[in-house]
Amino acid sequence: MRNTTLWLYGFSLILIWSCSNSSSPENNSEKKISNEETINKPAKVKDEGQALYLKYCMACHQTDGSGVPGMYPPITNSTFINSAKKEELIKILLNGMKGPIEVNGQKYNQQMPKQDFLTDEQLSLIINFVSKSFGNNGSVVSPSDISAQRKTNP
Ligand code: HEC
Repeated sequence: MRNTTLWLYGFSLILIWSCSNSSSPENNSEKKISNEETINKPAKVKDEGQALYLKYCMACHQTDGSGVPGMYPPITNSTFINSAKKEELIKILLNGMKGPIEVNGQKYNQQMPKQDFLTDEQLSLIINFVSKSFGNNGSVVSPSDISAQRKTNP
C-alpha cells in the first residue's frame, strides 16, 4: 500500500514536470503577443522607456532632452520628431545619423552612433517615450515595426 502511494506520487511528479516543460514554448509566444499589446501602455513606456533613454541617449541629448548647442540637437519640442514618419525615427536608431539637419531652427552637422544592438522591444519603448515626452507629439511604434525595418534596412 505504502509503495503504491509513493509510486503514484512519483509518477504524478513526472507528469507535472513533463506538462510544464512541454507547454513552455506556448508560454513564450503568449508572452510575445502580450508584449506587443502592452508596449504602448503609458505606464510601461514612462518607466521602462525613460530608464532606457537615460541609459542610452542621455549622455548626448541630456536628461531633460535639451541637447548641447552646436553638438547634440535637442529632442524637446522637436520639430524633427513631430514631423518624422515612424520609419524615419526607427532608421535614426538602427542606422545612426549624420549630415546636416535642422532642429528647432538650429543647424547641426554631427554624427549619432547607431543603436541597433538594442532589442525591438527596447527600441520601441525608447521611441514611444521620446515621441510622447519632452513636449513632443510624434509617431508611436510597435516592436514589429522595428523588426520589419531591420529586414528592409538600410
Ligand atoms: C553619442 C551621442 C548620441 C547618442 C548616444 C544618441 N544621439 Fe541622437 N543624435 C546625436 C547627434 C549628433 C544627432 C544629429 C546628427 C546630425 O547632425 O545629423 C542626433 C540626432 C537625433 C535625433 C533627430 C534630431 C532631433 O533632435 O530630433 C533623434 C530623434 C535622436 N537623435 C534620438 C536619439 C535617441 C532616442 C537616442 C538613444 C537611443 C540617441 N539619440 C542617442 C547624438 C547622439
